[in-house]
Amino acid sequence: MDNSLEEVKSILKKYNQEHILNRYEMLDERTQKKLIEQILSIDFELINSLYNDTKKSQVNDDKIEPMEYLDKYKLNDKYKYYENIGKQAIKNGKLAAVTMAGGQGTRLGHNGPKGTYDIGLDSHKSLFELLCDYLKSEGKKYGVTIPWFIMTSKENNEETLAFFEKNKYFGYQKDKNIFFFMQGELPMVDTEGKILIGEDGLIKLAADGHGGIYESLVKSGMVEKMKQLDIEWIFIGGVDNCLVKMVDPVLMGVAIDKQVTVACKSIVKANPHEKVGVFCKRNGKPGVIEYSEITDEMAEAVDSDGELLYGESHILCNLFNIEAVERMGKTPLPYHSAYKKAKFIDKNGDLVVPDSPNAYKFEAFLFDAFGEVDDMAILRVKREEEFAPVKNSDDAGVDCPSTARQLYENFYNLSK
Ligand code: UTP
Repeated sequence: MDNSLEEVKSILKKYNQEHILNRYEMLDERTQKKLIEQILSIDFELINSLYNDTKKSQVNDDKIEPMEYLDKYKLNDKYKYYENIGKQAIKNGKLAAVTMAGGQGTRLGHNGPKGTYDIGLDSHKSLFELLCDYLKSEGKKYGVTIPWFIMTSKENNEETLAFFEKNKYFGYQKDKNIFFFMQGELPMVDTEGKILIGEDGLIKLAADGHGGIYESLVKSGMVEKMKQLDIEWIFIGGVDNCLVKMVDPVLMGVAIDKQVTVACKSIVKANPHEKVGVFCKRNGKPGVIEYSEITDEMAEAVDSDGELLYGESHILCNLFNIEAVERMGKTPLPYHSAYKKAKFIDKNGDLVVPDSPNAYKFEAFLFDAFGEVDDMAILRVKREEEFAPVKNSDDAGVDCPSTARQLYENFYNLSK
């Protein structure tokens, strides 16, 4: 330990982070050990450069162009053709579903993992159970059990596992057809670039964004597990869309027939200025452009049919070939910083509970990996069939439990 402590001290000195050990002597032995391990595992060079990036204005001269897409409901004869291809692959057990449930759900403000949230249906089922019901009924259609992989974060892993255990995995079998894995984390830093210390005396870490999915699928051994199960296609979606259609034979058929390694669903923007990311070509490669990056002129531009040129919203509903996930898992993604409120212990050992943002969190975005592939297919689907997000609390009035509940009830004809 002494050697490690000396090593740690010199690392911290080099990166001007010596405050991390301020309260070291006051920690119990277990926490001391954990803190040392944390420090030794951190890439301080990376954190330094991410912090420095928060000070730079982002100049972006990427070449942005519209991206082609197919409309699921304008496929005509091809609909059945793609559907049959996809159905066969599903029946052959080639599909796995991955649910990203590692987010903090700050906007919703639910005390617990977002997946445990009850959107207020008569059944009072949680988001996890709604997703599971869907997977079970689809599995039945095709005579298979769709393996389900759930990504948690350190923050919510224990509670998520306890929730599933309590609910007997909703009929799934742990380690046979339902698997859990954790995403990575990065330290949070204050406006001076100093790493924050949390209430437990340890470095304050935050989940590294949904872009962490690829690396964690590989590192946790889940990709290997999928290979053992003979999986070829992986649908990756969020936990907070209660209408997410993880088993879509048409989407799979399109991917297989067009020989692309990624096929994504889109919904058309509600209006040209809706605050969503849209699919585009970025420097000739598939990508997503954020609403903050797009000019009014681009947002409003239409094609000869009057359709928005940049109108296909990315809704975190993406199908990947297992090889693409493996490749993306080995390719580092850029990190974006988000300015957030974060409780921390100050240099006097007092807990600070800020009422406005005070720290940077660094996140990778899943769609930044799209540039890794030369081509992808985009399938436009219907908002009312596939997108009922639970992002905000009901006060916001949009993308909140009551709007999601309404959409869910309408889709399943549950309205009273
Ligand atoms: P959001 O970006 O909407 O974030 O996640 P969030 O954590 O749910 O909510 P806010 O922003 O704190 O209010 C979209 C999906 O990606 C998952 C979320 O669980 C959700 O399913 N996600 C996000 C992760 O799994 N890990 C992350 O680090 C971030």
